[in-house]
Amino acid sequence: MKVTIKDLITKVSDNIAFPKVAMKILRLFEDDNLSAYQLAKAISLDPVLAAYVLKVSNSAFYNFANRVKNLSDAIALIGFEEVKKVVVMVSTKSVFSSSDFFDRLLWEHSLGVAIAASTLNEKLKITDEGSGYIMGLLHDIGKVVFKKADQERYEKLLKDSYNNDTPINILEDDLYGYNHADVGSYLLETWNFEQGIIDAVGFHHIDFNSVNKDFLKKAALVNLSDFIINIMGIGKKEPQNDLALINTTPSARFLDFYEENPIDIVNDIYKKFSSLKETFE
Ligand SMILES: [Fe+2]
Ligand SMILES: [Fe+2]
Repeated sequence: MKVTIKDLITKVSDNIAFPKVAMKILRLFEDDNLSAYQLAKAISLDPVLAAYVLKVSNSAFYNFANRVKNLSDAIALIGFEEVKKVVVMVSTKSVFSSSDFFDRLLWEHSLGVAIAASTLNEKLKITDEGSGYIMGLLHDIGKVVFKKADQERYEKLLKDSYNNDTPINILEDDLYGYNHADVGSYLLETWNFEQGIIDAVGFHHIDFNSVNKDFLKKAALVNLSDFIINIMGIGKKEPQNDLALINTTPSARFLDFYEENPIDIVNDIYKKFSSLKETFE
């Protein structure tokens, strides 16, 4: 019997949920008059979130001279966009229960793609900083659904893809008739995420050789970020050494992205990745 995307999602809906408090906080950012006090009040309702906001503001990444002790100060210092990232990161981490090898790889990969997407976005200006980050973090969430809903069969695919370096979306298409991008966008729709993020996730594995629509730029940003993180070997068996490929991949061409020295961008991403991984371990 054929399993539909809806079947998969219904099966895991009790196990995979985006924390309600986090969703409420993300909604707050839509209000242009949001104050640091309001934000601090909402975050303080979730002790884990609050602890992470403080931890991030005290991390080596910011290197503030004095220890930040309260939430309002932390928010004022790191800024709203940064707080938004932390909220999504903590919530996503709880969805990607990092219990086994493949869960951990996927978490690292997602963190990497989030950093790459926000880094590339500084140059490409396709979306706002926080959303670029969210797209990256959530782009492969469909894999979590597959793995929880159809564990045995999906783990075989994961192993196959890891050992033979075959793109997993191709294996998924063969077995299920759809892939984790389709499953992910369906899930984010049920979680009421904004359309831009749903599209970025849903179209991140399309063939960018033959597209020209503007709304696909976010998906292309995710695709290119994914490509770079894979080349760097984050969440992969091993890195590839041909960084020049970054400029010729179809999503880079679609976005008119060209980097004279790809090693610079790779080093920049790697530095941010290491510091963030440390904070969220
Ligand atoms: Fe993917
Ligand atoms: Fe990916």
